[in-house]
Amino acid sequence: MRTKHLIIFGTRPEAIKMAPLVKEFKKHPDQFDIKVCITAQHREMLDQVLNFFDIIPDFDLNLMKPNQNLYSLTADIITEMKPVLDNFQPDFIYVHGDTTTTMAASIAGFYSGAKICHVEAGLRTQNKRSPFPEEMNRQIAGRIADYHFAPTIQSKDNLLKENVKEDDILVTGNTVIDALLNSSERVEDIDNKEIEMLKTILDSSKKIILVTGHRRENHGQGFINICEALKEIALKNSDVQIIYPVHLNPNVQKPVHEILSAITNIKLIEPLAYPAFVWLMSNSYMIITDSGGVQEEAPSLGKPVLVMRDTTERPEAVEAGTVILVGTDKQKIVEESISLLTDTARYAKMSALHNPYGDGKACGRIVKFIESL
Ligand code: UD1
Ligand code: UDP
Repeated sequence: MRTKHLIIFGTRPEAIKMAPLVKEFKKHPDQFDIKVCITAQHREMLDQVLNFFDIIPDFDLNLMKPNQNLYSLTADIITEMKPVLDNFQPDFIYVHGDTTTTMAASIAGFYSGAKICHVEAGLRTQNKRSPFPEEMNRQIAGRIADYHFAPTIQSKDNLLKENVKEDDILVTGNTVIDALLNSSERVEDIDNKEIEMLKTILDSSKKIILVTGHRRENHGQGFINICEALKEIALKNSDVQIIYPVHLNPNVQKPVHEILSAITNIKLIEPLAYPAFVWLMSNSYMIITDSGGVQEEAPSLGKPVLVMRDTTERPEAVEAGTVILVGTDKQKIVEESISLLTDTARYAKMSALHNPYGDGKACGRIVKFIESL
């Protein structure tokens, strides 16, 4: 029997990690009626991903508002999902990770009676305020989900400790590796204007430090500390160039542009589409970030990462030695960066290639599991 499946996402990272799943399901049109619903919790940054992966959503809730708050976004998603669910009546819905879209869409999906499938399930810090609100979002989605696609054994173990039935969990690897491998191949072939732009601004005589940051718990003083640290690294190291595609969140844009725009060896640029960002990661010396997805991609590319967070739900790369947690303490960020710039033995050790997050076949495993139900 042909079953109905609704894949729901709203932000850039969810889109990157769900795009390969959409493609994988669409290989089996006889078995699966697949539709994509975007909440558009993000707009421009989501559209960049949809364009690259050639995904045309069937339902676009178009919900992003400038500087949106968690209360109204949550309410809007639940309310606006109702007509979509009433209209399509999916048998299964798929949510990803830990955003407001994930949490609210899983609640709406539960109300509709569909089976809820959680992709990138079981990540935990066990600190409900860090990352905020993501830790609680994924715990709520995990509580509601019928099937849990865990990227690693550790994430499966987290779910078992919460009494999720073992038969309802599948360890798949992270779908971000499916996206990364697919994109790395295509980056070589495509005529990419953003990569050409990057080649004109990158100074090949310098070591490139790539920076991204956006976490809500770092807004305010955290971002000021981060920017002061980047300023000090740039001013003290003329052989370094910092390149920073700045997240469109106004709480990020303001301090970053105020503190860093006048420094000659710091380049502030717009968010990049995925293939150009992958190219930039590959061509960087090291990465400083608070991003979840970048922590997963960097080990596969052999790039050391300083993570500007106090906790991580992704311990595998820390254990593998590619990732170090530095929080938002200015001195710690500066010291660890300088150490990686000067201590070649340490740098070499951290740059060893690791693949703790999968082999690029996660989506195939998910589709097989659904076929077997
Ligand atoms: C959200 C997710 C976070 C994820 C991050 C990825 C929640 C609670 N947080 O962050 O888990 O890591 O996205 O980037 O769901 N904006 C634009 N254009 C865009 C995107 C954002 O202008 O394409 C601006 C808007 O003013 C928007 C603001 O950024 O209101 C914040 O967007 P939002 O999705 O609420 O960001 P976060 O919650 O910080
Ligand atoms: N990314 C991108 N363009 C950029 C910066 C990041 O395509 O300019 C990609 C990155 O490769 C990763 C994802 O966006 O796959 C991470 O998104 P973000 O850091 O916004 O969210 P998080 O992963 O922290 O939820």
